[in-house]
Amino acid sequence: MFRRTLLRCIICIAVTGVALNDINNANVSVMVNDTFQKSSNRRLYCMVPFIWTPTFLPQYDAIRKTWGKRCDVLKFYIDPIIGDSQAGYFDVRVNETAKATLPEDVVVVENIQRPWNKCNSKSDSETPCRHIWEKLWRSWILMDEIGELDKAEWFTKVDADTYLFADNLKRFVDDKDWRPNEQHYFGHVLMHRIGKDDVNASIVAGAAVFFSRATLKSLANILKEFKEGEVRKGRQDCKDDYTSEEEVVTAVCLKKFIGLEAQTTLDADGKELIAVFEPEDSLTWNRSEQGEWWYWVNKPKADPQSGMELHQCCGDRPIAFHGYKDAKWFYHLENHFYGANLPVDEDENKQPIYAWRNPDQTKLHISLRG
Ligand SMILES: *[C@@H]1O[C@H](CO)[C@@H](O)[C@H](O)[C@H]1NC(C)=O
Ligand SMILES: *[C@@H]1O[C@H](CO)[C@@H](O)[C@H](O)[C@H]1NC(C)=O
Ligand SMILES: *[C@@H]1O[C@H](CO)[C@@H](O)[C@H](O)[C@H]1NC(C)=O
Ligand SMILES: *[C@@H]1O[C@H](CO)[C@@H](O)[C@H](O)[C@H]1NC(C)=O
Ligand SMILES: *[C@@H]1O[C@H](CO)[C@@H](O)[C@H](O)[C@H]1NC(C)=O
Repeated sequence: MFRRTLLRCIICIAVTGVALNDINNANVSVMVNDTFQKSSNRRLYCMVPFIWTPTFLPQYDAIRKTWGKRCDVLKFYIDPIIGDSQAGYFDVRVNETAKATLPEDVVVVENIQRPWNKCNSKSDSETPCRHIWEKLWRSWILMDEIGELDKAEWFTKVDADTYLFADNLKRFVDDKDWRPNEQHYFGHVLMHRIGKDDVNASIVAGAAVFFSRATLKSLANILKEFKEGEVRKGRQDCKDDYTSEEEVVTAVCLKKFIGLEAQTTLDADGKELIAVFEPEDSLTWNRSEQGEWWYWVNKPKADPQSGMELHQCCGDRPIAFHGYKDAKWFYHLENHFYGANLPVDEDENKQPIYAWRNPDQTKLHISLRG
C-alpha cells in the first residue's frame, strides 16, 4: 500500500530489456489505474466458467488474488461434478458433503446434463469434454433466475486463462458513453465466419466477452425458450448443442433474435484492446507479412475516413490478455502492472510452452515470463 501514483505507465519492453523499436518500430506501453474505485453505477460482474478439479485450483487462487480483485462481483460457474480421477469424482447435486467444501464465490450450474469427465463424442478423447456452450447458456438462465443480473451494469464472461483489466474496461465504456440499458455485445470481434455457408455473424472472441445488463437479460429470455432434447441442426441455429463453440452460438442467437451485432474494442488509434493470443506473440504480428489467416479475415484493414490502420495489437489501455494457462503469469503481471508484491511459485501448475507464430521475434519479448 506504499504506492501512491494514480496512474502507472509501463513500457512493457523496458522490463524485458529489449526495445520493441528494434524489432518493428512500434512503441508499446500499458497503462493502468491502480487506484481505480469500485463503483455503484457501473459495476462489472466477472463470470468465470470453471471446473472444480485440483489441476485448476491454482488458477482460481491466482485470479482472486490478482485481476479478480478489481471486479465488483467475481464468481466462478462450475459443473456439478467435482474432483478428478485420483481424488474421485463427486456429484454435488447428491453429495452434500462434497457441496459443503465449495467456497462462496463458486456457483454450481446444477442443470448441466453433459458430464465434463465422460466425453460423449469420440473425437473428444481429452477431458474436460467440450460442452462449454451448454454450460454457458444454462449459466445465463440461472444468473437471471437467482438475481445475479441485477448485481451489476456490465458483465463479462472471462476465461480462466485471461488476465483482465477491469479499470480499463470501465474507462472504455465511459469513453463510449454506453449505457447498461442499451444493447451492447462487445470485445475482440472476429469476422472469419461471415458468409452464407457459415454462421454469417461477427463473433466476440470467448476469451473475454462483454455484455450490457440489457443484453444479458434479452439473451436469457431467448435461451429460456430452448426445448429439452432439441439440438442445433445448422450453423445458423440458436439451440442447445454439444459444442465448445460457445461464442459462435451466442453471436448467432443475438443476431437472429434481437438483431444485435458484435461491437469492437478498439481504441482511438484503431488498436485492439483485447489480445486473444498471448500479447507477447500478437505484438509481433504484421498482417501484410502473415497473410490473411482466419484471425485477419474480413477485418477492415484501414479506417475508411482517416485511412488509419486498424486492429493492430495492442492499445495502451488493454482490457484483456488471453492465453495464460499457467497461474504464475497472473502473479507476474499483477506485480508488473499494478505494483503488487505477490510471491510467485515458479513451479506452480506448470503448463507446456506455447507454439508461437513468430517464435524468434516472440522470444525477444518474453523475459518477463522467466
Ligand atoms: C509489416 O511488414 C511490411 C512488409 O514487410 C512492412 O513494409 C511494414 O513496415 C511492416 N509494418 C510494421 C508495422 O512493422
Ligand atoms: C514511447 O512512449 C513514451 C511514453 O508515452 C514516450 O515518452 C516516448 O517518447 C515514446 N517513444 C517513441 C520512440 O515514440
Ligand atoms: C483513476 O481512478 C480514480 C478513481 O476511480 C479517478 O478518480 C482518477 O481520475 C483515475 N485516474 C485516471 C488518470 O484515469
Ligand atoms: C461425498 O464427497 C466426499 C468428498 O467431499 C467423499 O469423501 C464422499 O465419499 C462422498 N460420498 C459419496 C456417497 O460418494
Ligand atoms: C447474412 O447477414 C446479413 C445481415 O448481417 C444479411 O443481409 C444476409 O442476407 C445474410 N446472408 C445469409 C446468406 O444469410
